[in-house]
This record gives sequence, C-alpha cells and structure tokens, in this order.
Amino acid sequence: MTVLVTGGTGYIGSHTVVELLENKIKVIVIDNFTNSKREVVDRIKKITGKDFIFYEKDVCDKEALRKIFQKHSIDAVIHFAGYKAVGESVKDPLKYYQNNLFSTIQLLQVMDEADCRKLVFSSSATVYGNPKTLPIKEDFPLSTTNPYGTTKWMIEQILRDVERSNSNWSIAILRYFNPIGAHPSGLLGEDPNGIPNNLMPYIMKVANHELGTLNVFGNDYNTKDGTGVRDYIHVVDLAKGHLKALDKIAKTTGVDAYNLGTGIGYSVLEMIHTFEKVNGVKINYRITDRRPGDIDACYADASYAEKELGWKAEKSLEDMCRDAYHYIVQNKK
Ligand code: UFG
Repeated sequence: MTVLVTGGTGYIGSHTVVELLENKIKVIVIDNFTNSKREVVDRIKKITGKDFIFYEKDVCDKEALRKIFQKHSIDAVIHFAGYKAVGESVKDPLKYYQNNLFSTIQLLQVMDEADCRKLVFSSSATVYGNPKTLPIKEDFPLSTTNPYGTTKWMIEQILRDVERSNSNWSIAILRYFNPIGAHPSGLLGEDPNGIPNNLMPYIMKVANHELGTLNVFGNDYNTKDGTGVRDYIHVVDLAKGHLKALDKIAKTTGVDAYNLGTGIGYSVLEMIHTFEKVNGVKINYRITDRRPGDIDACYADASYAEKELGWKAEKSLEDMCRDAYHYIVQNKK
C-alpha cells in the first residue's frame, strides 16, 4: 500500500509517517516546510531505519500534485497540510480560507482525476464550538468560533458533498482533541517559533528556561478548579489512529467522522502539577484574565472510534509530560 501524506513533516504528520513506515506502508510526503523543519525528514528515517519519497511542494500547486499522482500509484491520502494558528486566523482570515480550502479542493480534484478516492482528513474538536454537554459525541451540532475552525468545518462539508456526488469515495474525518507530547526518541516533537499559543509548548519553554512565567488564562471557569479543561492526547496515540482509519477506508466507502481523544479532561493546573511531578521541575505561573474565545471544558466521547476503528488512546498524561520534556531537553538550542 502506498500513502501520500500532505504536511508529513509537521507535528502530527511526522509522527504519523513514522507509524506508517513502521507498519511497512510505502510513504510519499509532500510538504513546503511552512511550519516545520527540513531536519524532520532525516529524523523520521533515523527513527524508522526506512526511506520514503519526499517532495518539497505546496499542496496549492496543482501541477505538482498531478505529476506526483502520475508518477506513483497512490492508494490513499492523509491530508494534514494547512495553517492552524487560531489567533492568526482571526487577524488574517483570507489567508486561512485561501490556503486551507484551496489546497484541499485541488487535492480532491487531482485525486478524482487519478481514481484515488480514499482520504483521511485532519479535522479538529474545534468544530464542536462551545458544546452544551460533555463528553462530546460525533453527532453533536457543529459551530465554530474562529476562521481556522471554520476552514475545518467547511472542508468537512466539502468532503460530504464530494462523497454524495460519487459514492466510490471513502473518507475518514478525524477530529483531534488536544495533541501533546513527543516521540519517545526525542527526535520529533512540537517546538513552535516565538511565543507559543498552546499550553503544553508554553509549559515546555518555561521548564527549559526559555520563557519566565506561564500565564494561566482564567481561574473562574465552571470546572473542577476554575481553570480550563481539555482532552490532551499523546501525539503517538493520535498518529496510530490514522493507521486504523486507513484500514477502515480501505474496506468501506462513504464518509464518517471520529473523535480522537482520551475521553479524560484535565485542567490547566493539573497539567502544570503533573508536568512538575513527572519531570522534577518547577513551572512558574500566574493567573491572568481569560483568553477571548476560550471555553470552560472540552473532552471527547471516544467510544465511536473504538467501536468502528478499533482504536483507543493508550498513553497516560504522565507519558505525555515526560516525552514532551525529553524532547525539549534533547533539542536545547
Ligand atoms: N492556556 C493557558 N495558558 C496558555 C495557553 C493555554 O492557560 O499560555 C489554557 C487555555 O486557556 C485552555 C487550555 O490551556 O484552557 C488549552 O489551551 P490550548 O491553547 O493549548 O488549546 P485549545 O483547547 O485552546 O485549542 C487547541 C488547538 C486548536 C484546536 C483545539 C481542539 O489550539 O487548534 O485545541 O480542541 F482546535
């Protein structure tokens, strides 16, 4: 089986490529390093001892996509490529709509031309907006609170329309909760440039003395300790979910969405304290105002993925905190 992975050097993409190679799947990666580093290509090869084909191309480049599909016999595509910074999407919505929608439409057109209609798409729990009840099930009403989230929602609708137009399509929409952690080798992980937007990368930089104090955005939420609650999932568990989704779409047609989360919600303070305990470090923090747009709590009912895909997250919060810290220490600048 040969799988094309768009965005395969990014945070989730790179971990997924490792799992694919370790399961003897032939991999072709396309990435333009917008939000990733070149060294990831060699690091994936180092971890797996396996080679794969890499194209430094933009998924918006339709001719480049066509050539790749003409040259290789591709059985399925995992589509990660896309912009993903919530704050930036609010400031520059057109950049997000242009890139995330256009690239996906081009990809779908080229896949259709090439008679390749098996797709795993990276969606996000952000499509549930501010859920009325918890845990979140796949059939909950969808709504979004920022342009990034709206691109995910729109692409989900596009995929459903495409499948309606041709029932040979087989599409798995994976709605990720909050991926954190890193590859246990310390070679792959998340290390955003500048000030991180997300909690775990920020904690990692405070632990590594790159940043002084973590701002905890509000302690008056309707949660166990007043701080925001999220469903954090180890990126390696998440990566494994993509292999299960590939198995599923290989055997079926249609389009379906699956929550990939652990089903457990942890608060910001629980995250800080677990990270401190597991790694023997101190995380300085202060309570500040709420971040606009944040919700109280978000966690998955992950039973549908378990039933339909045979997938379940296995790693603990301690594993996530340990691997995240290992990665930042190994890659000290
Ligand atoms: N938080 C802080 N301080 C920080 C950063 C975050 O207190 O410096 C808090 C937030 O208020 C929230 C929690 O930590 O309560 C998690 O925040 P993140 O920014 O790490 O994650 P979000 O849940 O806000 O959003 C993430 C991704 C989105 C994705 C969503 C899916 O950024 O792209 O998960 O649920 F859509």
